[in-house]
Amino acid sequence: MNLEGKPRKDSLELIASEVRKCTKCPLSATRTNAVPGEGNPSAQIMFIGEGPGFNEDRQGRPFVGAAGAFLNELLQSVGLRREDVFITNVVKCRPPGNRDPLPEEIQACSCYLDRQIELIKPAVIVTLGRYSMARYFPNERISRIHGQPRRIGDLTVVPLFHPAAALHQPALKETSISDFKKIPKIVEEALAARASKQGKDQDDHDNDNTESLEQLKLF
Ligand code: URA
Ligand code: SF4
Repeated sequence: MNLEGKPRKDSLELIASEVRKCTKCPLSATRTNAVPGEGNPSAQIMFIGEGPGFNEDRQGRPFVGAAGAFLNELLQSVGLRREDVFITNVVKCRPPGNRDPLPEEIQACSCYLDRQIELIKPAVIVTLGRYSMARYFPNERISRIHGQPRRIGDLTVVPLFHPAAALHQPALKETSISDFKKIPKIVEEALAARASKQGKDQDDHDNDNTESLEQLKLF
């Protein structure tokens, strides 16, 4: 709140500064650096991974280790650069020894991710791995739904395998590459759907105005 009692305007910088000081879960005790996420603040595509690993914890930046190198390759293969997209994780601090994040850690951290999504308003969210997939599809199996876009309101979500999984299981590498190739078309379709919905909402609004004018004329 500011002095006038209005809520302070949220921003990605504000979220990042809160994340760097955050002690809402025990991962704060073992981190070197929190990793809020980075990229284009008006990205059409947002990538959500699991949590920082060793290198990310050292540098305070997402996907800078081996999985990150593969993600960079995948982005490049469809003509995208890291600066074009926004990249973050479900937990912003490294789970010790790269263990899986716990449900309560994901829950404690989810407000930051919610706020990032709210500000960026991406047309497409690409989930990398099970934990970010579970935000949207808690009862699904990644082996069944990977690479399939699904619309949730005016957001399109595409679950992909985690790039680290593809590095450990060579069979998943080709799958990741071919799933990734679908992204440009998915983004194009998501943007078209959003534009047509906005056009329709505007028409409805105009119709409402016309109707009230017509009603006024009756008096
Ligand atoms: N794996 C993730 O899920 N996120 C990172 O930032 C790095 C590796
Ligand atoms: Fe806070 Fe998230 Fe880090 Fe936990 S993981 S301390 S909730 S920023």
